[in-house]
Amino acid sequence: MQFIVAHDYEDLSRRAARVLADLLGSLPKPVIVLPTGNTPLGMYRELLKLALVDRVIFSGAGFIQLDEYASIDEDDWRSLAGWLRRSFLDDANISPSSVTNFRSSAPDGAMEASRMERAIGTAGEIDISVLGIGLNGHIGFNEPGSAADSPTRIVQLTPQSIRSNAEYWGSEAAVPRQAYTLGLGTLSRARRTLLLVSGAAKAQILHAAMEGSVTPQVPATFLRQLQNVTVIADREAVALLGREGGPRLC
Ligand code: PGA
Repeated sequence: MQFIVAHDYEDLSRRAARVLADLLGSLPKPVIVLPTGNTPLGMYRELLKLALVDRVIFSGAGFIQLDEYASIDEDDWRSLAGWLRRSFLDDANISPSSVTNFRSSAPDGAMEASRMERAIGTAGEIDISVLGIGLNGHIGFNEPGSAADSPTRIVQLTPQSIRSNAEYWGSEAAVPRQAYTLGLGTLSRARRTLLLVSGAAKAQILHAAMEGSVTPQVPATFLRQLQNVTVIADREAVALLGREGGPRLC
C-alpha cells in the first residue's frame, strides 16, 4: 500500500486528479470507477482544470458508477448518477454511453444488481477504482457487515449512513433507505485502488481502517488485503495514525 499525506484538501484533490490524468494519458481505453460524496469534488474540479491546461482527454475512457440510491426516479434530485453528471461528467463532455450506471428506478433490485455486475464485466477490467470512506468505514455502500468477496448488490443503509447522507439532502427523511453498491469483491478485481480521505472527522475511521483489525465491521479494512492500493489523505485525516505502535505512515 502506498500512503501519501497531502498538505490539505486542495493538495489531496490535485494529487488525486494527477493520478487519473496520468492514467488517462497512458491508456487508450481506461476503465475507471468514480465515487460521489464531498471528498472527490475537488478532484473533479482539478481534473476539469487539467483537461483545459494539459489537454487530458476523456474520450475512449469508460466510467463506472460506484453506488446509487435505489427506488428513486432516474431524474430524482437525489440521484447519484445526476450528482456525478453535474459535478463532473457534463463539464468534461463525457457522453452517457461511456458511463455504466445503476438504474435507480429498476423495479427489481436483485436483478438490477446482477445486470450491473454483468455490465461491468462487459466494460472490461477495472483499471482504477477511486473510493471514499464513510464515517462508519463503508466503501461505496458496502456497509459494516459486508464480506470481502461481496458482489454488486442492493443494500439497506445503516442509520449512520442515513445521518451522514442527510448532510447532502437536508434531512434524514429525504435519504433513501436502500442503495446499490459495487461489492467489495467486485472492487477487489480492480488493477489499482485510490482511496481519498480528508478532514479531522475522518481521522478516527481512517485509524480503524489502516491500523485496526481486519473485520467486516469496518469494510475499509479489506483494502489492506488488496494489491496496488494508494491512499491519499490530508494532514487532518492522518492525525491518529502511527500511534499505539501501529505503522508510521507519514
Ligand atoms: P464523503 O462521503 O466524501 O461525503 O465524506 C464518503 C462516503 O460516505 O463514502
